[in-house]
Amino acid sequence: MMDDNVQMINGVRYLSQRENSFSTSYVELRKKEGRLLTDEEVSNLPDTDISNPNRNEWVLRKRSTLRFIKYLKAKDRSLSVLDVGCGNGWFSHKMAFASKGISVVGLDINEMELEQAVRVFNSHNTEFVYGDLFEIGDIFNDRFDIITLNASVQYFKDLDKLFSLLKRFLRNKGEIHIIDSPFYNETEIDAARERTQDYYTKMGFPEMGIHYFHHSHDCVKEFKAMYRPPAKIIRRVFRLKDSPFLWLRYIDQDNS
Ligand SMILES: C[S@@+](CC[C@H](N)C(=O)[O-])C[C@H]1O[C@@H](n2cnc3c(N)ncnc32)[C@H](O)[C@@H]1O
Repeated sequence: MMDDNVQMINGVRYLSQRENSFSTSYVELRKKEGRLLTDEEVSNLPDTDISNPNRNEWVLRKRSTLRFIKYLKAKDRSLSVLDVGCGNGWFSHKMAFASKGISVVGLDINEMELEQAVRVFNSHNTEFVYGDLFEIGDIFNDRFDIITLNASVQYFKDLDKLFSLLKRFLRNKGEIHIIDSPFYNETEIDAARERTQDYYTKMGFPEMGIHYFHHSHDCVKEFKAMYRPPAKIIRRVFRLKDSPFLWLRYIDQDNS
């Protein structure tokens, strides 16, 4: 799909220099959390078996996945998609087969899971690339109809900088979607940051705290909510099994 002359290792195309300061701790933490799955388990996501320690979370994530795949299907036309922070590629794969004519580039900086993505989901319309978005130059400019950030936006510090870059990657009327990611009211951020740092410290990876960011609703003012979860109390009382996170969409109006 991509014709740029760049390095390829184990099926992953490298668009920027490798750097390990984030991914080494990130992968070790994932292992401890039970989030590194076998190829077979990854191939079934978002479905998991009963032994998966994060099964409850996947039940909720399945709902947001189905909602988004239905949305893509309804477009009923060929689409070029970029999945930012694709991890092991399960969501890229779901999108690639939502309907005919969709092609997906999954991008991440976590080599281990990118290689797993290639192993498990290798197909004519899916490509997995390693790249720091801010280091890859202009090869993605005007290239995508849809860009997704599924559970990954919280790993980017400066959302203004991120969104202005991603907007350059969009074709006219292209869209950016944020799925399964928390946003906070200003007054909640300090406490959330503290909880996250406590969690990382308890897990033995205090250094991960500098890679995880708590963004306010203000950062996504340009986005429209496509799904708004019911209040926590309602979800609890009615035992609703659906994502506790907003689904957010930005549509580019004029990319010329
Ligand atoms: C929680 S995982 C989400 C993976 C997948 N999208 C999903 O929904 O399960 C977050 C992913 O974001 C990736 N990530 C973090 N910072 C990144 C960056 N600067 N560029 C690309 N990916 C990044 C991580 O390596 C990780 O794979």
